[in-house]
Amino acid sequence: MASRVDGPLKVTGRAKYGADNNFPGLVHGYVVVGTVAHGEILAMDTTAAKSAPGVVGVYSPFDPLVLRTASTPLLGETWVPLQDKEVTYYGQAIGLVVAETYEQARDAAMTVEVTYARRPVRTSLADGLAEAEDAPAARDGTPATFAVLADGVASIEDALAASPVVVEATYSTAPQNHAAMEPHSAVAVWDADGLTMYSGNQGASLQVAELTASLEIESSAVHTINPFVGGAFGGKGRTSVAAFLAAAAARVLGKPVKVVLTREQIFTTTANRAATVQKITLGSTTGGSLVAVRHDSWCSTAMDRSFVEPTSHGTSREWYATENLAISQKIVPLNIPRTTFMRAPGEAPGSFALESAMDELAAKLAMDPIELRLRNNSTAPPGKDLLWSSKHLDDCYRIGAARFGWADRSPNGRTDGDWQVGLGMATAMFPAIRFPAAVRITLRDDDTAVVGTGGADPGTGLLTVLSLVGAESLDIPPERVTPLLGDSELPPGGLSGGSSATASAGTAIMATAAQIIDELLALASSPGSPFAGKEVSYADGRLFADGGSMTFGEVLRAVNRPSISATGSSAPGEELTKHSFSSWGAQFCEVRVHKWTREARVSRMLGVYDAGRIINDKTARSQIVGGMIWGVSAALHEGLELEANGRFANGDLASYLVPVNADIPDIDVHFVEYPDTLHNPVGAKGLGEIGVVGVAAAIANAIHNATGIRVRHIPITIEDLL
Ligand code: MOS
Repeated sequence: MASRVDGPLKVTGRAKYGADNNFPGLVHGYVVVGTVAHGEILAMDTTAAKSAPGVVGVYSPFDPLVLRTASTPLLGETWVPLQDKEVTYYGQAIGLVVAETYEQARDAAMTVEVTYARRPVRTSLADGLAEAEDAPAARDGTPATFAVLADGVASIEDALAASPVVVEATYSTAPQNHAAMEPHSAVAVWDADGLTMYSGNQGASLQVAELTASLEIESSAVHTINPFVGGAFGGKGRTSVAAFLAAAAARVLGKPVKVVLTREQIFTTTANRAATVQKITLGSTTGGSLVAVRHDSWCSTAMDRSFVEPTSHGTSREWYATENLAISQKIVPLNIPRTTFMRAPGEAPGSFALESAMDELAAKLAMDPIELRLRNNSTAPPGKDLLWSSKHLDDCYRIGAARFGWADRSPNGRTDGDWQVGLGMATAMFPAIRFPAAVRITLRDDDTAVVGTGGADPGTGLLTVLSLVGAESLDIPPERVTPLLGDSELPPGGLSGGSSATASAGTAIMATAAQIIDELLALASSPGSPFAGKEVSYADGRLFADGGSMTFGEVLRAVNRPSISATGSSAPGEELTKHSFSSWGAQFCEVRVHKWTREARVSRMLGVYDAGRIINDKTARSQIVGGMIWGVSAALHEGLELEANGRFANGDLASYLVPVNADIPDIDVHFVEYPDTLHNPVGAKGLGEIGVVGVAAAIANAIHNATGIRVRHIPITIEDLL
């Protein structure tokens, strides 16, 4: 169990985040945001700003910085600011004021007067349902609407009509902001070689691709450096307006430019999780076998329709065994900030609906909720014949039930003094994904190694994983491995997204380690080496020949090589045609609802997961605990509130409610460890996102067990429990 290799730097303030970089002549940009949710900018009076103390540049759609829409295969198009006069949401970036100090830039920005031609504003998902549009097909080609039906069944309606027991309900989930601790920021520096960008992200190669496209320069002219990222959760997948504006302003000004978004600006100028409305219909036999599952989803999206929260798609990809499945995924374009990936996009809000509905079905059948889920455990995704590579979800249920004392649960909860106490559970699933990744390993003559890749560690523990997998693959202690991340000059290392980083980078490390050991063996047996002409083998950081041995550092010194390096890569391949891949889990919680105040308090939590091999129990647990806490937040605290004019009523950390320590009990995490080497040679399936999946439903289900009240929206507040 290893502590975070970057932990001491982070807790002592020595870790240098993007905005911590300063350079001679650096100037500061402050973003101007719009104050209407829909309209056209007719005029921007920047006269006062231009003559304000210290101001060196004022940019607006009338005097823009040149930026092209960024486009990458993975993310599609990313909007860039100041290129047109249309405003489609409150808080949209519409200008940049650059001055010698941050305060001067901010003061000058406040003097900019904007005249708008306002247009009608639409912000309500509920009001927009009737005019919803079909979502585009998912990235994997899954259409927005489809059905898988058993032979002889004409429609999902027929399958449901033939089901002896039917549960149908509509659920809704609130929009959320990632609220990462590190604000989005950027420091841009140009020199003869091009742009150097310091701006926290989830993968250097993605940021380089977006900056290259928007600035119309060669990728060799962009260098991004971000060894530390203070939280991302999907919200730093796309390049931020801070980075686009800093890069473009620094280019025209010929000075380094720093742009740090305020917390309020982060809520509007980056992107959020969509709001969802989801209708679930479950048809089952009286014995609890699912006959038909229907999941119809609507999500909010910005006017550019650039993101779909794929709640129904999650149900079609990973969830229960059923012969009849129909999903639809619709979008409702609104005058709201962009929506984007947020921890378990799709599965997090989707599991609230599906796992609440499963609880409702269990109640209707008078069946234990775990028994119902065990009965519908699948061996392959619905409608596909590719079996799961590994699935120990039944272990998660059974071990969790024993560990949590599930057998003591009464169908009507219990009371403890003034508290009504209930137990709830839910299933968690998240696909196991792997991206292409490349890694460079350097062996040095002091018997240490450097393992580097262009991915990012936004708090996930990836740096620590690199050192552990590197050490294991090179057969040396982890203390002798220096992991490197977050620099675009390192080989492109996939991204910290989709719970994929360990599988992607880890596999590349194994391949590259094998490569460099081969090179070392060749070097050790070549002329001039102490083992010239001999058969050499490698183990434990040493080269062996004829009964003698030397460390690799000794061999390198003997041949006068300070170091040797190898770059290798790996990518998902044939296995994709042979199996389906997912991580699994079971969430358990105990909730106490006060008889008089009606406050709901989570008093116990357990998550049991099958995420393949766990590389480092400590950081793995930490990842999961973070996800589970977010689940509590989603269930009981968190939600963006829109005023009718499109402004967020709680778009800052003073009013956006998130849990504090007093809201969170001790959290028990258990891994059933079955390495999945069909997915990748490391055997890890990924656990960045699964921790949040199902938690909100488990809490709502526990509240129902405690009180008999079924709340079908999150967050659940005191008013819902009166
Ligand atoms: Mo994550 S939402 O895939 O960054």
